Amino acid sequence: MEEFYQKDSVLRHKSHMGIAHTRWATHGKVTRNNTHPMMSQDKAFAVVHNGIISNYRTLKSQLEKEGVRFLSETDTEVVPHLLQKFYKQTKNVEKAFVKTLSMLEGTYAVVMITQYHPDTIFCARKESPLMLGIGDEIKYVGSDFNAFIDHTKNAVIIDDEEYAILTRDRYVVKNFLTGEEIVKPITRIEWDSETSKKGGYPHYMLKEIYEQPQTILNALEVDEKALDDVAEFMTKRNTYLVGVGTTFYVAKYAKYIFARLAGRYFSSISSDEFIALSPVDRDSLVLAISQSGETYDTITALKHAQSKGAKTAAIVNVIGSTLSRMVDRVILQGSGPEICVISTKAALAQMVILTTLAMRLALKTRKMTRKQYNEALATLHEMPEIIGNVLNERSGFIHRIANQYKNIKHWLYLGRGMYYPVALESALKMKEVAYIHAEGMPGGFLKHGTLAMIDSDIYSIVFMPPATEKELYESTLSSVAEIRARSGFVLGIHFDERGKNRDLFSEELILPSVPPLAAPLLQLILAQLFAYFTATSLKRNVDKPRSLAKSVTVG
Ligand code: AGP
Repeated sequence: MEEFYQKDSVLRHKSHMGIAHTRWATHGKVTRNNTHPMMSQDKAFAVVHNGIISNYRTLKSQLEKEGVRFLSETDTEVVPHLLQKFYKQTKNVEKAFVKTLSMLEGTYAVVMITQYHPDTIFCARKESPLMLGIGDEIKYVGSDFNAFIDHTKNAVIIDDEEYAILTRDRYVVKNFLTGEEIVKPITRIEWDSETSKKGGYPHYMLKEIYEQPQTILNALEVDEKALDDVAEFMTKRNTYLVGVGTTFYVAKYAKYIFARLAGRYFSSISSDEFIALSPVDRDSLVLAISQSGETYDTITALKHAQSKGAKTAAIVNVIGSTLSRMVDRVILQGSGPEICVISTKAALAQMVILTTLAMRLALKTRKMTRKQYNEALATLHEMPEIIGNVLNERSGFIHRIANQYKNIKHWLYLGRGMYYPVALESALKMKEVAYIHAEGMPGGFLKHGTLAMIDSDIYSIVFMPPATEKELYESTLSSVAEIRARSGFVLGIHFDERGKNRDLFSEELILPSVPPLAAPLLQLILAQLFAYFTATSLKRNVDKPRSLAKSVTVG
């Protein structure tokens, strides 16, 4: 029930229940009519929905034939109208809810309130994340626990084909295909709300970039047995590394690491291409990489792998997420909440975990001696301090460079070997947070066509390996020379403090010399900062860039 009252000359209302939606609808323009919640024609039902109702056009035209007038362009609006229709038939909200769910195809997390039960929330899930927050005298429903972590750490994860009915002091979960009641465990969310706050930083993105020294320490403390089990799978199985967006570039990076450390070639495949591309079978291992653990494309890829009898594993950040619960072995990366839509610390942690995985595999298959393993591990343990120093010493310079070049409209990011996925991920940062076109490309591609485009209008960033990586260093340097010979601009990120080639660069960002295993990670962090400062100088919405969502739970 709502009571209205006046306070500070503003008309307010006191209610004990409400629903809201924090994303733009997947269908229709960004207009008020397309904003959730969607209402039934008699205003008796209000619904918010995450996902895509794939048969909404059929349902909509049937409802319109029955006289329903739609106000929005969304797929969601069919839900409240179906609820009104079936309530009229059954005079029972729960029955009307279950009947409505049975009509929907596609993916959804649906939350509904109705005037017929003013103290009750109904919700249901099919392939779009949904969880309950169980407080003492208050209940929450959300797509992830950041919706209620400030109020309760007790979560109940809703699974596919399940619905829940909640009132202030109780809740029940049922299967909407069988109607059976299900007893669900309470998942304790160990993240405290403080770590979900900005902690004095202007943006979550900057906070999470600066958290990376700690993130690496956490990544080096992940469950040993899980790491060992996955490495054991890898000894005998053809392995596919799967992710999408940033996590695809992490998978690509891992491909070089496994080849270099363990002498194994593993395919890295973008989740959305996995089914079309991979001859996965019962002798395969599919290792998914996902911060949210809710990415539709990656979940779909793993379901396909499981249907073929493959073993599955995942490196995931969010506890209790769908991916973490569907695989044979999960490695929880422990990076803490990554609030910014742009992935930084989670990706870095995944790269470190994949490096330790490759080291374990190398040890198991005698590609690495125990001494070499310990040396590599020591390098990774030195990273937090190195990163902390670089962040403090170089961020001012990066800020200046970013401000100086903020109006450049097109960037070419070049790297060779394991610096190529670093270039790809760095370019993605620039695109998604600064809205500036950036192309990541292998340095070796230049002479196969792109060189024709190079002139004084083209700005490039080149990720230089340490000079100790002689062949890679020389070949990357030749890419720089090819661009400079055609008056192209090159910002060189390198380790060559006393190098004789420094005059080759138009601008240079010099890093302290580090072991080869740490070098690409350090360069990625600088590229994250470069994208961040470019975005802030252009007044972008850094933590919530336009058109993006933190987890892409639709196909
Ligand atoms: C990250 O910066 C991107 N916004 C995006 O590519 C993201 O990495 C991708 O959607 C995968 O998300 P996941 O790691 O949660 O599966």
